[in-house]
Amino acid sequence: MNGRLRGKCALITGAGRGIGAAFAEAYLREGARVAIADIDLARAKATADALGEGAVAVHMDVTDQASIESAVAETVAQLGRIDILINNAALFTAAPLVEITREDYARVFEINVAGVLFTMQAVARHMIERGGGGRIINMASQAGRRGEPLVAVYCASKAAVISLTQSAALNLIPHGINVNAIAPGVVDGEHWDGVDAFFAKYEDKPLGQKKREVGAAVPHGRMGRADDLTGMAIFLASDEADYIVAQTYNVDGGQWMS
Ligand SMILES: NC(=O)c1ccc[n+]([C@@H]2O[C@H](COP(=O)([O-])OP(=O)(O)OC[C@H]3O[C@@H](n4cnc5c(N)ncnc54)[C@H](O)[C@@H]3O)[C@@H](O)[C@H]2O)c1
Repeated sequence: MNGRLRGKCALITGAGRGIGAAFAEAYLREGARVAIADIDLARAKATADALGEGAVAVHMDVTDQASIESAVAETVAQLGRIDILINNAALFTAAPLVEITREDYARVFEINVAGVLFTMQAVARHMIERGGGGRIINMASQAGRRGEPLVAVYCASKAAVISLTQSAALNLIPHGINVNAIAPGVVDGEHWDGVDAFFAKYEDKPLGQKKREVGAAVPHGRMGRADDLTGMAIFLASDEADYIVAQTYNVDGGQWMS
């Protein structure tokens, strides 16, 4: 099906690569125009160029309030409006509890939690001011559903994303802004190359082994691909999802049931 987002304008954070880039491609296919926002502007430009007409690259550091505001303003200037926000930018870290540093904790929470909150705020202000509602989709994770021995900080940050999604949704739905979240499981790509390297270090495994193990543990039988998530991201942004508010949907091949 094509055209489900015809005429809509979307801002996707962290869309220079990975899942965000796949969302941008899928949204364009459905008729939307998309701002590909990333701290890595060269990556964002390369992705926007590869996607072609309807995609623009925007520099954005979600840890910097001035950058959030200028990225929102630039998106509105380039696309005319923002109907859909996907808060997708995030950082993963892993370490045994006794080795976690304040610096790691602060960096992860600045990107994964404060970044989501204050980008929602900036875009919600725009949506409220122009009227007509909107859609916000936050990227949570199965890591937000329960703790993991080596992943305390990232898991806590994603639990916070689920909670922020609920509070923001209740606050914004009177303005016609639906806020929901997607909780992926294990999705192969550059992000998971990094995760695999963390586990290689802390669990003394050869590179690639953790990926094989997590893939085999998924009931569906394999790791996810970015494209496995695009259907949910299109649906939540579409008119069909008007009555869906404050939910976090697992898209994880059957790993988690909640
Ligand atoms: N890949 C997985 O297995 C998986 C699983 C569960 C949840 N998720 C979530 O899905 C989302 C996308 O994951 P991915 O695998 O595509 O990640 P990724 O690491 O491949 O991409 C993240 C993007 O965010 C950008 N970014 C980092 N810091 C930023 C900042 N301060 N401001 C703006 N952009 C910044 C990076 O440059 C990069 O392009 C994330 O929220 C992640 O936590 C991923």
